[in-house]
Amino acid sequence: MRTTVGIIGAGPAGLLLARLLHNAGIDSVVLESRDRAYVEQRQRAGILEQGTVDVLRAAGAGERMDREGLRHDGIELRFARRRHRVDFPALTGGRSVMVYAQTEVCKDLIALQLKEGGPLLFGAQALAVEGAGTDSPRVRFRHEEREDVLECDYVVGCDGSWGVARRAIPEELTRVFERTYPFGWLGILADVPPSHDELVYARHDRGFALLSMRSPVVSRLYLQVPEGTDAEAWSDAEIWDELERRFETDDGWRLRRGTITSKSVTPMRSQVQEPMRYGRLFLAGDAAHIVPPTGAKGLNLAVGDVVTFARALGHQRETGSDDLLDTYSETCLRRVWQAERFSYEMTTMLHRSPDATPFEDRIQLARLERLTSARSAEQDLAEGYTGFAL
Ligand code: FAD
Ligand code: DHB
Repeated sequence: MRTTVGIIGAGPAGLLLARLLHNAGIDSVVLESRDRAYVEQRQRAGILEQGTVDVLRAAGAGERMDREGLRHDGIELRFARRRHRVDFPALTGGRSVMVYAQTEVCKDLIALQLKEGGPLLFGAQALAVEGAGTDSPRVRFRHEEREDVLECDYVVGCDGSWGVARRAIPEELTRVFERTYPFGWLGILADVPPSHDELVYARHDRGFALLSMRSPVVSRLYLQVPEGTDAEAWSDAEIWDELERRFETDDGWRLRRGTITSKSVTPMRSQVQEPMRYGRLFLAGDAAHIVPPTGAKGLNLAVGDVVTFARALGHQRETGSDDLLDTYSETCLRRVWQAERFSYEMTTMLHRSPDATPFEDRIQLARLERLTSARSAEQDLAEGYTGFAL
Protein backbone atom coordinates (compact mmCIF):
# COMPACT_ATOMS: atom_id res chain seq x y z
CA MET A 1 0.00 0.00 0.00
CA ARG A 2 1.23 3.53 -0.81
CA THR A 3 0.23 7.00 0.33
CA THR A 4 1.60 10.50 0.75
CA VAL A 5 1.16 10.72 4.53
CA GLY A 6 0.98 7.59 6.69
CA ILE A 7 -0.79 8.43 9.94
CA ILE A 8 -0.44 6.09 12.92
CA GLY A 9 -3.32 6.37 15.40
CA ALA A 10 -6.94 7.51 15.13
CA GLY A 11 -7.19 9.59 18.27
CA PRO A 12 -8.02 13.27 17.89
CA ALA A 13 -4.56 14.04 16.45
CA GLY A 14 -4.59 11.41 13.69
CA LEU A 15 -8.23 11.90 12.76
CA LEU A 16 -8.02 15.68 12.53
CA LEU A 17 -4.78 15.47 10.55
CA ALA A 18 -6.43 13.16 8.01
CA ARG A 19 -9.28 15.67 7.65
CA LEU A 20 -6.97 18.68 7.25
CA LEU A 21 -4.91 16.87 4.61
CA HIS A 22 -8.04 15.74 2.77
CA ASN A 23 -9.24 19.35 2.65
CA ALA A 24 -5.85 20.37 1.24
CA GLY A 25 -6.04 17.67 -1.46
CA ILE A 26 -3.26 15.55 0.10
CA ASP A 27 -3.91 11.82 0.46
CA SER A 28 -3.29 9.84 3.62
CA VAL A 29 -3.94 6.46 5.23
CA VAL A 30 -4.77 6.14 8.93
CA LEU A 31 -3.81 2.97 10.83
CA GLU A 32 -5.57 2.41 14.16
CA SER A 33 -4.88 -0.63 16.32
CA ARG A 34 -8.22 -0.63 18.21
CA ASP A 35 -11.75 -1.01 16.86
CA ARG A 36 -14.11 1.86 16.08
CA ALA A 37 -16.33 1.39 19.14
CA TYR A 38 -13.32 1.52 21.46
CA VAL A 39 -12.00 4.75 19.95
CA GLU A 40 -15.46 6.35 20.06
CA GLN A 41 -16.12 5.47 23.68
CA ARG A 42 -12.79 6.09 25.41
CA GLN A 43 -13.59 8.68 28.12
CA ARG A 44 -11.02 11.43 28.15
CA ALA A 45 -10.90 15.19 27.67
CA GLY A 46 -13.90 17.49 27.69
CA ILE A 47 -12.80 21.07 27.05
CA LEU A 48 -11.98 22.62 23.67
CA GLU A 49 -10.00 25.85 23.55
CA GLN A 50 -11.21 28.67 21.33
CA GLY A 51 -8.51 27.86 18.75
CA THR A 52 -9.54 24.18 18.63
CA VAL A 53 -13.17 25.17 18.12
CA ASP A 54 -12.15 27.47 15.27
CA VAL A 55 -10.03 24.73 13.62
CA LEU A 56 -12.83 22.13 13.82
CA ARG A 57 -15.30 24.60 12.29
CA ALA A 58 -12.91 25.57 9.49
CA ALA A 59 -12.27 21.86 8.78
CA GLY A 60 -16.01 21.28 8.30
CA ALA A 61 -16.20 19.20 11.50
CA GLY A 62 -17.97 21.68 13.76
CA GLU A 63 -21.62 21.24 12.90
CA ARG A 64 -22.71 18.96 15.78
CA MET A 65 -20.27 20.69 18.16
CA ASP A 66 -22.03 23.99 17.45
CA ARG A 67 -25.42 22.38 18.04
CA GLU A 68 -24.66 20.28 21.12
CA GLY A 69 -21.51 21.76 22.65
CA LEU A 70 -21.79 24.16 25.58
CA ARG A 71 -19.96 27.46 25.25
CA HIS A 72 -18.41 28.47 28.59
CA ASP A 73 -17.37 32.03 29.35
CA GLY A 74 -15.66 31.31 32.66
CA ILE A 75 -14.71 28.94 35.44
CA GLU A 76 -15.05 29.12 39.18
CA LEU A 77 -12.12 28.79 41.57
CA ARG A 78 -13.06 27.55 45.01
CA PHE A 79 -10.82 27.64 48.08
CA ALA A 80 -11.14 28.40 51.80
CA ARG A 81 -14.92 27.84 51.43
CA ARG A 82 -15.15 30.83 49.06
CA ARG A 83 -15.94 31.13 45.33
CA HIS A 84 -14.36 33.30 42.69
CA ARG A 85 -15.46 33.46 39.03
CA VAL A 86 -12.92 34.05 36.26
CA ASP A 87 -14.59 35.82 33.33
CA PHE A 88 -12.78 34.72 30.14
CA PRO A 89 -14.19 37.11 27.50
CA ALA A 90 -13.68 40.14 29.76
CA LEU A 91 -10.05 39.18 30.45
CA THR A 92 -9.01 37.98 26.99
CA GLY A 93 -10.77 40.26 24.52
CA GLY A 94 -13.66 37.89 23.89
CA ARG A 95 -12.27 34.36 24.08
CA SER A 96 -14.18 31.40 25.55
CA VAL A 97 -14.03 27.57 25.59
CA MET A 98 -16.43 24.82 24.53
CA VAL A 99 -17.53 21.82 26.58
CA TYR A 100 -17.67 19.05 23.97
CA ALA A 101 -16.23 15.64 24.79
CA GLN A 102 -13.28 14.04 23.02
CA THR A 103 -15.52 11.02 22.33
CA GLU A 104 -17.83 13.28 20.30
CA VAL A 105 -14.96 15.00 18.43
CA CYS A 106 -13.68 11.54 17.45
CA LYS A 107 -17.14 10.30 16.38
CA ASP A 108 -17.62 13.37 14.15
CA LEU A 109 -14.17 13.05 12.55
CA ILE A 110 -14.50 9.29 11.99
CA ALA A 111 -17.89 9.74 10.29
CA LEU A 112 -16.43 12.42 7.99
CA GLN A 113 -13.34 10.39 7.19
CA LEU A 114 -15.31 7.26 6.32
CA LYS A 115 -17.69 9.27 4.15
CA GLU A 116 -15.31 11.61 2.34
CA GLY A 117 -11.68 10.86 3.22
CA GLY A 118 -9.00 8.30 2.50
CA PRO A 119 -8.62 4.87 4.09
CA LEU A 120 -9.03 4.60 7.88
CA LEU A 121 -8.17 1.07 8.95
CA PHE A 122 -9.33 -0.10 12.35
CA GLY A 123 -7.65 -3.14 13.88
CA ALA A 124 -4.45 -2.15 12.05
CA GLN A 125 -1.54 -2.18 14.44
CA ALA A 126 1.66 -0.40 13.44
CA LEU A 127 4.63 -2.56 14.37
CA ALA A 128 7.49 -0.23 13.41
CA VAL A 129 8.44 2.84 11.40
CA GLU A 130 11.34 2.09 9.10
CA GLY A 131 13.56 4.35 7.02
CA ALA A 132 12.52 7.52 8.87
CA GLY A 133 15.83 9.11 7.94
CA THR A 134 15.32 8.41 4.19
CA ASP A 135 13.02 9.90 1.51
CA SER A 136 10.77 6.84 1.59
CA PRO A 137 9.73 5.97 5.14
CA ARG A 138 7.54 2.90 5.69
CA VAL A 139 5.19 1.69 8.37
CA ARG A 140 5.13 -2.03 8.95
CA PHE A 141 1.72 -3.04 10.31
CA ARG A 142 -0.59 -6.00 11.01
CA HIS A 143 -4.18 -5.96 9.76
CA GLU A 144 -6.62 -8.88 9.69
CA GLU A 145 -3.91 -11.32 10.73
CA ARG A 146 -1.64 -10.26 7.87
CA GLU A 147 1.53 -8.21 7.92
CA ASP A 148 1.70 -5.41 5.39
CA VAL A 149 3.80 -2.34 4.59
CA LEU A 150 2.57 1.23 4.07
CA GLU A 151 5.00 3.13 1.84
CA CYS A 152 4.86 6.89 2.47
CA ASP A 153 6.43 10.24 1.69
CA TYR A 154 5.92 11.26 5.32
CA VAL A 155 4.88 9.42 8.48
CA VAL A 156 3.11 11.17 11.34
CA GLY A 157 3.09 9.32 14.66
CA CYS A 158 -0.21 10.19 16.35
CA ASP A 159 -0.15 6.97 18.35
CA GLY A 160 -0.24 8.31 21.89
CA SER A 161 2.20 7.88 24.72
CA TRP A 162 2.57 4.10 24.37
CA GLY A 163 2.88 4.06 20.57
CA VAL A 164 5.70 2.83 18.33
CA ALA A 165 6.50 5.98 16.31
CA ARG A 166 8.62 7.71 18.93
CA ARG A 167 10.84 4.63 19.20
CA ALA A 168 11.97 5.15 15.59
CA ILE A 169 13.88 8.28 16.61
CA PRO A 170 17.43 7.27 17.56
CA GLU A 171 17.85 7.42 21.32
CA GLU A 172 21.08 9.43 21.10
CA LEU A 173 19.19 12.26 19.35
CA THR A 174 16.34 12.28 21.87
CA ARG A 175 15.83 14.04 25.18
CA VAL A 176 12.92 13.25 27.46
CA PHE A 177 11.83 15.70 30.14
CA GLU A 178 9.41 14.41 32.73
CA ARG A 179 7.77 14.75 36.08
CA THR A 180 5.35 12.42 37.81
CA TYR A 181 2.97 13.55 40.54
CA PRO A 182 2.27 11.47 43.66
CA PHE A 183 -1.47 11.55 43.01
CA GLY A 184 -4.06 10.83 40.33
CA TRP A 185 -7.64 11.73 39.45
CA LEU A 186 -10.58 9.49 40.19
CA GLY A 187 -13.08 10.50 37.46
CA ILE A 188 -16.76 9.68 37.40
CA LEU A 189 -19.63 10.16 34.96
CA ALA A 190 -23.01 10.57 36.62
CA ASP A 191 -26.55 10.83 35.31
CA VAL A 192 -27.38 14.09 37.05
CA PRO A 193 -27.56 17.69 35.80
CA PRO A 194 -24.35 19.61 36.65
CA SER A 195 -24.60 21.34 40.04
CA HIS A 196 -23.16 24.54 38.56
CA ASP A 197 -23.41 25.99 35.07
CA GLU A 198 -19.62 26.43 34.76
CA LEU A 199 -16.63 24.26 35.74
CA VAL A 200 -15.53 24.46 39.37
CA TYR A 201 -11.86 23.93 40.30
CA ALA A 202 -11.62 23.42 44.07
CA ARG A 203 -8.54 23.50 46.31
CA HIS A 204 -9.17 21.86 49.67
CA ASP A 205 -6.95 20.63 52.51
CA ARG A 206 -8.20 17.10 51.69
CA GLY A 207 -7.18 17.49 48.03
CA PHE A 208 -8.36 18.87 44.70
CA ALA A 209 -11.83 18.38 43.18
CA LEU A 210 -13.24 19.36 39.79
CA LEU A 211 -16.82 19.69 38.68
CA SER A 212 -17.29 19.39 34.93
CA MET A 213 -20.01 18.15 32.62
CA ARG A 214 -20.74 16.36 29.37
CA SER A 215 -24.24 17.71 28.72
CA PRO A 216 -27.08 19.46 30.58
CA VAL A 217 -27.99 16.07 32.11
CA VAL A 218 -24.60 14.36 32.57
CA SER A 219 -22.00 15.47 35.13
CA ARG A 220 -18.28 14.67 35.01
CA LEU A 221 -16.47 15.00 38.34
CA TYR A 222 -12.94 14.35 39.50
CA LEU A 223 -11.29 13.82 42.91
CA GLN A 224 -7.58 13.93 43.68
CA VAL A 225 -6.62 10.48 45.03
CA PRO A 226 -3.27 8.95 46.05
CA GLU A 227 -1.13 7.50 43.26
CA GLY A 228 -2.02 3.87 42.54
CA THR A 229 -5.62 4.12 43.85
CA ASP A 230 -8.03 1.45 42.57
CA ALA A 231 -11.27 3.14 41.43
CA GLU A 232 -13.31 0.19 42.67
CA ALA A 233 -11.99 0.73 46.19
CA TRP A 234 -14.28 3.78 46.42
CA SER A 235 -18.00 3.14 46.89
CA ASP A 236 -20.40 5.52 45.15
CA ALA A 237 -21.50 6.99 48.49
CA GLU A 238 -17.88 7.60 49.53
CA ILE A 239 -17.21 9.45 46.28
CA TRP A 240 -20.21 11.74 46.69
CA ASP A 241 -19.40 12.40 50.37
CA GLU A 242 -15.82 13.33 49.52
CA LEU A 243 -16.86 15.56 46.60
CA GLU A 244 -19.34 17.31 48.85
CA ARG A 245 -16.68 18.05 51.47
CA ARG A 246 -14.22 19.46 48.96
CA PHE A 247 -16.78 21.69 47.21
CA GLU A 248 -18.37 23.02 50.42
CA THR A 249 -18.76 26.80 50.66
CA ASP A 250 -19.97 29.24 53.31
CA ASP A 251 -22.89 30.34 51.13
CA GLY A 252 -24.74 27.02 51.26
CA TRP A 253 -23.97 25.76 47.70
CA ARG A 254 -25.33 22.20 47.18
CA LEU A 255 -23.92 19.29 45.17
CA ARG A 256 -26.54 17.20 43.32
CA ARG A 257 -26.03 13.43 43.45
CA GLY A 258 -27.03 10.89 40.80
CA THR A 259 -26.29 7.43 39.45
CA ILE A 260 -22.60 6.89 38.72
CA THR A 261 -22.21 5.22 35.32
CA SER A 262 -18.41 5.08 35.04
CA LYS A 263 -15.41 5.28 37.38
CA SER A 264 -11.71 5.34 36.51
CA VAL A 265 -8.36 6.62 37.75
CA THR A 266 -5.98 8.69 35.60
CA PRO A 267 -2.34 9.02 36.68
CA MET A 268 -0.77 12.48 36.49
CA ARG A 269 2.46 13.20 34.69
CA SER A 270 4.23 15.75 32.54
CA GLN A 271 6.47 14.50 29.74
CA VAL A 272 8.04 16.02 26.63
CA GLN A 273 10.16 14.20 24.05
CA GLU A 274 12.44 16.43 22.00
CA PRO A 275 12.77 16.77 19.07
CA MET A 276 9.35 16.02 17.62
CA ARG A 277 10.77 15.21 14.21
CA TYR A 278 13.40 12.92 12.76
CA GLY A 279 13.84 12.98 8.97
CA ARG A 280 10.41 12.30 7.48
CA LEU A 281 8.86 11.09 10.74
CA PHE A 282 6.89 13.66 12.73
CA LEU A 283 5.37 13.12 16.19
CA ALA A 284 2.09 14.78 17.14
CA GLY A 285 -0.07 14.87 20.28
CA ASP A 286 0.45 12.47 23.18
CA ALA A 287 3.08 10.59 21.14
CA ALA A 288 5.39 13.54 21.87
CA HIS A 289 4.06 15.09 25.08
CA ILE A 290 1.84 14.46 28.08
CA VAL A 291 0.40 17.08 30.42
CA PRO A 292 -1.35 16.47 33.72
CA PRO A 293 -5.07 16.99 33.03
CA THR A 294 -5.53 20.10 35.21
CA GLY A 295 -6.41 22.84 32.73
CA ALA A 296 -7.45 20.43 29.95
CA LYS A 297 -4.55 21.00 27.55
CA GLY A 298 -3.83 17.48 26.17
CA LEU A 299 -6.33 17.33 23.34
CA ASN A 300 -5.81 20.99 22.45
CA LEU A 301 -2.05 20.51 22.13
CA ALA A 302 -2.61 17.55 19.81
CA VAL A 303 -4.74 19.82 17.61
CA GLY A 304 -1.99 22.47 17.54
CA ASP A 305 0.61 19.94 16.39
CA VAL A 306 -1.41 18.58 13.47
CA VAL A 307 -2.45 22.06 12.33
CA THR A 308 1.26 22.96 12.29
CA PHE A 309 2.12 19.85 10.26
CA ALA A 310 -0.72 20.31 7.76
CA ARG A 311 0.25 23.95 7.28
CA ALA A 312 3.92 23.01 6.77
CA LEU A 313 3.14 20.31 4.22
CA GLY A 314 0.68 22.60 2.41
CA HIS A 315 3.43 25.24 2.22
CA GLN A 316 5.85 22.65 0.85
CA ARG A 317 3.30 21.69 -1.81
CA GLU A 318 2.68 25.30 -2.83
CA THR A 319 6.22 26.67 -2.78
CA GLY A 320 8.52 23.64 -2.90
CA SER A 321 10.15 24.88 0.30
CA ASP A 322 10.79 22.60 3.29
CA ASP A 323 11.17 25.62 5.61
CA LEU A 324 8.08 25.00 7.71
CA LEU A 325 8.64 21.23 7.87
CA ASP A 326 12.18 21.92 9.06
CA THR A 327 10.94 24.17 11.87
CA TYR A 328 7.98 21.89 12.81
CA SER A 329 9.53 20.65 16.05
CA GLU A 330 10.63 24.11 17.25
CA THR A 331 7.26 25.65 16.37
CA CYS A 332 5.31 22.95 18.22
CA LEU A 333 7.61 22.87 21.21
CA ARG A 334 7.19 26.59 21.91
CA ARG A 335 3.47 26.04 22.40
CA VAL A 336 3.96 22.68 24.12
CA TRP A 337 6.17 24.20 26.81
CA GLN A 338 3.68 27.02 27.43
CA ALA A 339 1.00 24.38 27.96
CA GLU A 340 3.34 22.32 30.14
CA ARG A 341 3.98 25.41 32.26
CA PHE A 342 0.29 26.25 32.51
CA SER A 343 -0.70 22.67 33.45
CA TYR A 344 2.12 22.48 36.00
CA GLU A 345 1.07 25.77 37.60
CA MET A 346 -2.60 24.79 37.73
CA THR A 347 -1.69 21.36 39.14
CA THR A 348 0.64 22.64 41.84
CA MET A 349 -1.67 25.50 42.81
CA LEU A 350 -4.72 23.28 43.32
CA HIS A 351 -3.51 19.83 44.48
CA ARG A 352 -2.30 18.93 47.92
CA SER A 353 0.91 16.89 47.88
CA PRO A 354 1.03 14.09 50.46
CA ASP A 355 4.17 15.71 51.91
CA ALA A 356 2.96 19.35 51.73
CA THR A 357 4.26 21.50 54.57
CA PRO A 358 2.16 24.19 56.30
CA PHE A 359 4.37 26.76 54.54
CA GLU A 360 3.50 25.31 51.12
CA ASP A 361 -0.20 25.31 52.04
CA ARG A 362 -0.02 29.02 52.81
CA ILE A 363 1.82 29.73 49.54
CA GLN A 364 -0.92 27.89 47.60
CA LEU A 365 -3.57 29.99 49.29
CA ALA A 366 -1.55 33.14 48.62
CA ARG A 367 -1.35 32.22 44.91
CA LEU A 368 -5.12 31.81 44.83
CA GLU A 369 -5.66 35.07 46.74
CA ARG A 370 -3.43 36.83 44.24
CA LEU A 371 -5.50 35.46 41.37
CA THR A 372 -8.67 36.80 42.90
CA SER A 373 -7.29 40.24 43.68
CA ALA A 374 -4.93 41.18 40.83
CA ARG A 375 -6.34 41.50 37.33
CA SER A 376 -2.94 40.77 35.78
CA ALA A 377 -2.76 37.38 37.52
CA GLU A 378 -6.33 36.55 36.62
CA GLN A 379 -5.72 37.58 33.02
CA ASP A 380 -2.72 35.28 32.83
CA LEU A 381 -4.90 32.34 33.90
CA ALA A 382 -7.70 33.26 31.49
CA GLU A 383 -5.28 33.56 28.57
CA GLY A 384 -3.66 30.21 29.37
CA TYR A 385 -6.98 28.45 29.85
CA THR A 386 -8.59 29.70 26.64
CA GLY A 387 -5.39 28.79 24.78
CA PHE A 388 -2.16 29.93 23.22
CA ALA A 389 -2.18 31.07 19.60
CA LEU A 390 -2.00 28.33 16.99
P1 FAD B 1 -4.63 9.36 21.69
O1 FAD B 1 -5.98 9.90 21.94
O2 FAD B 1 -3.99 8.56 22.77
O3 FAD B 1 -4.70 8.48 20.37
C1 FAD B 1 -3.68 7.62 19.98
C2 FAD B 1 -4.28 6.53 19.13
O4 FAD B 1 -3.25 5.73 18.60
C3 FAD B 1 -5.18 5.60 19.93
O5 FAD B 1 -6.43 5.50 19.29
C4 FAD B 1 -4.42 4.30 19.96
O6 FAD B 1 -5.29 3.19 20.02
C5 FAD B 1 -3.63 4.38 18.67
N1 FAD B 1 -2.41 3.57 18.66
C6 FAD B 1 -1.49 3.40 19.65
N2 FAD B 1 -0.50 2.59 19.26
C7 FAD B 1 -0.80 2.25 17.99
C8 FAD B 1 -0.13 1.42 17.05
N3 FAD B 1 1.00 0.78 17.32
N4 FAD B 1 -0.70 1.24 15.82
C9 FAD B 1 -1.87 1.87 15.51
N5 FAD B 1 -2.54 2.66 16.38
C10 FAD B 1 -2.00 2.86 17.60
N6 FAD B 1 -6.93 15.56 28.48
C11 FAD B 1 -7.67 16.55 28.92
O7 FAD B 1 -7.51 17.66 28.39
N7 FAD B 1 -8.62 16.35 29.91
C12 FAD B 1 -8.83 15.10 30.45
O8 FAD B 1 -9.69 14.93 31.31
C13 FAD B 1 -8.05 14.04 30.01
N8 FAD B 1 -8.20 12.79 30.52
C14 FAD B 1 -7.40 11.77 30.06
C15 FAD B 1 -7.52 10.46 30.58
C16 FAD B 1 -6.68 9.43 30.15
C17 FAD B 1 -6.83 8.03 30.73
C18 FAD B 1 -5.68 9.70 29.18
C19 FAD B 1 -4.75 8.60 28.71
C20 FAD B 1 -5.58 10.99 28.65
C21 FAD B 1 -6.42 12.03 29.08
N9 FAD B 1 -6.33 13.34 28.56
C22 FAD B 1 -7.10 14.33 29.01
C23 FAD B 1 -5.41 13.67 27.51
C24 FAD B 1 -6.10 13.68 26.14
O9 FAD B 1 -7.15 12.75 26.12
C25 FAD B 1 -5.01 13.36 25.15
O10 FAD B 1 -4.08 14.41 25.20
C26 FAD B 1 -5.52 13.17 23.72
O11 FAD B 1 -6.24 11.96 23.64
C27 FAD B 1 -4.34 13.16 22.76
O12 FAD B 1 -4.76 12.75 21.51
P2 FAD B 1 -3.81 11.91 20.58
O13 FAD B 1 -4.59 11.72 19.33
O14 FAD B 1 -2.47 12.51 20.54
O15 FAD B 1 -3.60 10.51 21.33
C1 DHB C 1 -12.29 18.10 32.10
C2 DHB C 1 -11.01 17.64 32.22
C3 DHB C 1 -10.02 18.51 32.64
O1 DHB C 1 -8.77 18.08 32.74
C4 DHB C 1 -10.30 19.82 32.95
O2 DHB C 1 -9.32 20.64 33.39
C5 DHB C 1 -11.58 20.27 32.79
C6 DHB C 1 -12.57 19.40 32.36
C7 DHB C 1 -13.35 17.18 31.66
O3 DHB C 1 -13.05 16.00 31.43
O4 DHB C 1 -14.50 17.60 31.57
